[in-house]
Amino acid sequence: MKPSKPVILTGVRANNNIHIGNYFGAILPIINMAKRRSDEYDINLFIPDLHSFTTPIDHSKLYDSILNNARVYTAAGLPLDNPSIHLYRQSRIPAHSELAWILDCFTGFGEMSRMTQFKDKGSKGDASVGLFNYPVLMAADILLYGATYVPVGDDQTQHLEFTRDIAERMNRKFGDLFIVPKPVIQQHQFFGKDQGLRIKDLVNPAKKMSKSDESGKGIIFLSDDPKSAHKKIMSATTDSIGKVQYDKENQPGISNLLEILTLVRQDAGREVTLEQTANEYFGMDRYGDFKRIVADEVAEFLENFQNRLAAVDEQAIEEKLASSEKDMNAVANETLYRVQKAVGLRK
Ligand code: TYM
Repeated sequence: MKPSKPVILTGVRANNNIHIGNYFGAILPIINMAKRRSDEYDINLFIPDLHSFTTPIDHSKLYDSILNNARVYTAAGLPLDNPSIHLYRQSRIPAHSELAWILDCFTGFGEMSRMTQFKDKGSKGDASVGLFNYPVLMAADILLYGATYVPVGDDQTQHLEFTRDIAERMNRKFGDLFIVPKPVIQQHQFFGKDQGLRIKDLVNPAKKMSKSDESGKGIIFLSDDPKSAHKKIMSATTDSIGKVQYDKENQPGISNLLEILTLVRQDAGREVTLEQTANEYFGMDRYGDFKRIVADEVAEFLENFQNRLAAVDEQAIEEKLASSEKDMNAVANETLYRVQKAVGLRK
């Protein structure tokens, strides 16, 4: 089975602790893009589960957290019955690991050492070889399916550039083996406003909401009890200016709350823009009252989302995974065989 349309491909690592930054910043835009573009493109939405333990994790929770990603996508509105959308686990398609090994042998040690994510995480103690060559596996994830567009956040663009480099290098050496994904700038143009949203931490709105924050007070997890999420919003850091307005520079906390309020309203089906929300509350001088509005609506969003999550059809998810994995094994193996032939492993 060969995809007849150009391919858009992306992945979000298995994670049991998805927060609203991941949800509104990455997952929801991907689902909306999948729904909008599936007429013209094949959409490969996969769970990079082999990428889940480049740093130590609790392995007893991994299996469930892989499925949890699929459940969250479904609760976020991913249409499982759309045949142009493929939902699969990386580990169920052995060609990913095999191509990664071949690409490893054409990748320079120095080239990998310069990857900033490795430098950030790997500098803290005894990093694994898996963390070191993780971008090579990511390149295999992309090149096996000939993906043209790969929507990712800024932290992943260096890996996308590497994917282009290794694909071009292999094509120069062996002839046209791979479709090279578009350069990052063209990716941004293509996805337009799908890119660039960054929900900030509630306690420290100068930094993005990220699960590496130890206290958890600045983060709203999708699994948070709505009451405790309400409390977190009520204690969010604001400023001493004393008037609600959208000013990211001088009022990052209030601006973040305006963004969150807009997003939960959109999730509830309201067609509202950030500008409209900002106008609605412009000049309000009692931050406590404003926060209560945001807190109430965030609590309501969580309650709705958690109800949707509890109601997902597990069997439909299992069936979708099984059928996509069957189809994608066929696509991936075709590319892998071509590469094996080129490097002399097959006739
Ligand atoms: P991961 O799982 O760390 O993150 C998934 C995607 O979410 C983006 N992201 C955010 N976007 C907006 N706001 C935030 N607060 C935020 N936090 C994270 C990330 O940039 C990413 O796009 N290596 C990848 C997974 C991967 C992959 C691939 C992606 C493996 N193979 C092939 C695309 C194609 C990763 O660790 O993303």
